[in-house]
Amino acid sequence: MLLDLIIRNAKVATAADVFHADIGIKDGLIVCISSTIDQTAERQIDAAGRVVTPGGVDAHCHLDQPMAPPVKMADDFETGTRSAACGGTTTIIPFAAQAKGESLQAAVDDYHRRSDGKAHVDYAFHLIVNDPSPNVLTNELPALIQSGYSSFKVYMTYDDMKLDDGQILDVLAVAKQHNAMVMIHAENADCIEWLTKRLESASQTSARFHTRSRPMLVEREATHRAISLAELVDQPILIVHVSGREAVEQIRWARAHGLKVFAETCPQYLFLTAEDLGIDDSFEGAKCICSPPPRDASNQEVIWNGLADGLFTVFSSDHAPFKFEGPDGKQAFGTDAAFRHIPNGIPGLETRMPLLYSEGVLKGRISLTKFVELTATNPAKTYGLHPRKGTIAPGADADLVIWDETPYVIRNDQLHHAVDYTPYEGRELLAWPAMTLLRGQVVWDGKQLCSTPGTGQFLKCDLPTI
Ligand code: URP
Ligand code: ZN
Ligand code: ZN
Repeated sequence: MLLDLIIRNAKVATAADVFHADIGIKDGLIVCISSTIDQTAERQIDAAGRVVTPGGVDAHCHLDQPMAPPVKMADDFETGTRSAACGGTTTIIPFAAQAKGESLQAAVDDYHRRSDGKAHVDYAFHLIVNDPSPNVLTNELPALIQSGYSSFKVYMTYDDMKLDDGQILDVLAVAKQHNAMVMIHAENADCIEWLTKRLESASQTSARFHTRSRPMLVEREATHRAISLAELVDQPILIVHVSGREAVEQIRWARAHGLKVFAETCPQYLFLTAEDLGIDDSFEGAKCICSPPPRDASNQEVIWNGLADGLFTVFSSDHAPFKFEGPDGKQAFGTDAAFRHIPNGIPGLETRMPLLYSEGVLKGRISLTKFVELTATNPAKTYGLHPRKGTIAPGADADLVIWDETPYVIRNDQLHHAVDYTPYEGRELLAWPAMTLLRGQVVWDGKQLCSTPGTGQFLKCDLPTI
């Protein structure tokens, strides 16, 4: 058989092993892995001296998600997925968000319209269940799970998104019946509102006070409640974007009690602190407003430990792209807007993999196998995409990253998203992808994007296998 491509002399890293091998690719699939492939191919790439990992699976990002006017996300499927490709991510799972009063199927149909023909990497959808009406619970959700949308997020905060405990129990019960995965945004909405009003009455409304309105205890309380609700229904859950010690303690407690509670964290909780939201009343801090907010250096250590010791299942970007300048992003309500009106979220699709590879693997905080597990294998298993995605094995899609371990300085003008800033501007990394391949096709060659919109395909998710 004439192979399409052989990657020679790779230092292959999977979630289980690191070994030297050649990788043979045909029709977009990995067909053989051997110490020496004794065949010819149309094309060869010499990866001597380079680590090759599975393409990243970013299981939490937001692209072109409808927002209340005048706010608008900066990235659509074209710009968001090109940014993913250039940072080593080959599969993304953004959210089809149901609006209150809308059907879930309508949200999915709308999201397909937004993504069709635009993506540079493969993509699946999570659902956001915003209105668990009897029809959604009895008909729509079960039908969507069967047709390839097997994970959904529920919110315990944000006025226009939050569900009450009874509604969350209803959603968990449907997930249990159909073996789906429920992701929970755990922050106590009433506490946040109470604190926000108190801060407002003391005229403490600048960007930095966002962190004071969402202290760790509001995350701790909601995390504990989410765990209790899941225990009541006997349904696994995944707590998204865990920010620090107090939520981690709750998740460790749940695990110690034998509960299937998975957890996700994100770069902002390793590389940003509350001080990045400002030490004075400047609006600059709006760039780093996200929820839960970044904490402090000691909490960063707690997150690193949780990544190394298996507390965290997945490492995602939570890319939520809003421009800093202009009328529809962070400044939608002006540069003196109170923090409650500043859109929540920061960009990170392109920098997620290189940040963790540089600061985690190359600085000795996590092993290479752990890196692969967190950034590719576990997200693929958690959301029903494994073994097609998230691994380097015969039969898997040939989604690969070849790493260049030379210094790289993050500059927003070198990134490929449509956001006008990165919170990591000027940060010195030790590596960046030399090449990203999607189903055997080079989509990033270390200098430029090589794919066209529509290269990425929609993926139906099976049930979780974690
Ligand atoms: O601040 C954040 N995290 N924005 C994105 C939306 C969400 O809750 O994940
Ligand atoms: Zn969230
Ligand atoms: Zn998010």
